Amino acid sequence: MDHDETELSTAEIAALARRIDRPVVLVGMMGTGKSSIGRRLATLLHLPFVDADEAIEEAAQLTIAEIFERHGEAAFRDGERRVIARLMDGERKVIATGGGAFVNAETRALILSKAITIWLDADIDTLVERTARKNTRPLLRQGDPREILTRLRDERRPAYAEAPIHITSGRGPQSRTVARVLKEIDAWL
Ligand code: S3P
Repeated sequence: MDHDETELSTAEIAALARRIDRPVVLVGMMGTGKSSIGRRLATLLHLPFVDADEAIEEAAQLTIAEIFERHGEAAFRDGERRVIARLMDGERKVIATGGGAFVNAETRALILSKAITIWLDADIDTLVERTARKNTRPLLRQGDPREILTRLRDERRPAYAEAPIHITSGRGPQSRTVARVLKEIDAWL
């Protein structure tokens, strides 16, 4: 653990973890680091971590790219809605959602009512750079990734903005973002 993550002491993090009585859900665009930040948060809080995209892949026994190819985006969104509803069982855990999940009004209302919701945001250059590292996102194969990311980020912003906690993850170390998330949860609870 490096210095930034210990901005809150281990005892303070343990005290915060005891106050967390619901799932912690990360929402926001592809490439903001929801999964890696979520993993780090879960480790620090000693909570289980669930990647909703992986849960969808497991339920379908297909990769997300395969679901899009074989069944189309609407089928993926339907599976996403059902899997997230199942994950909102009140158990304490950290969940990273796929970038489109919180856009669905039903899913959004459910998450907002049952979880501590955090919108992770980043600037377009960061999103382009981070998403270029993997070729697993079908939406970004449909044209110029920068244009697609810019359009989706603009379209989705009003939905993401309903999350009570908003954190911009910059280019600095992820541990700094994690420390900020912990502090914001502490302030919000
Ligand atoms: C999507 C984001 C992806 C994945 C799917 C669609 C989106 O998840 O669910 O490719 O619509 O933004 P990540 O945000 O984890 O990349």
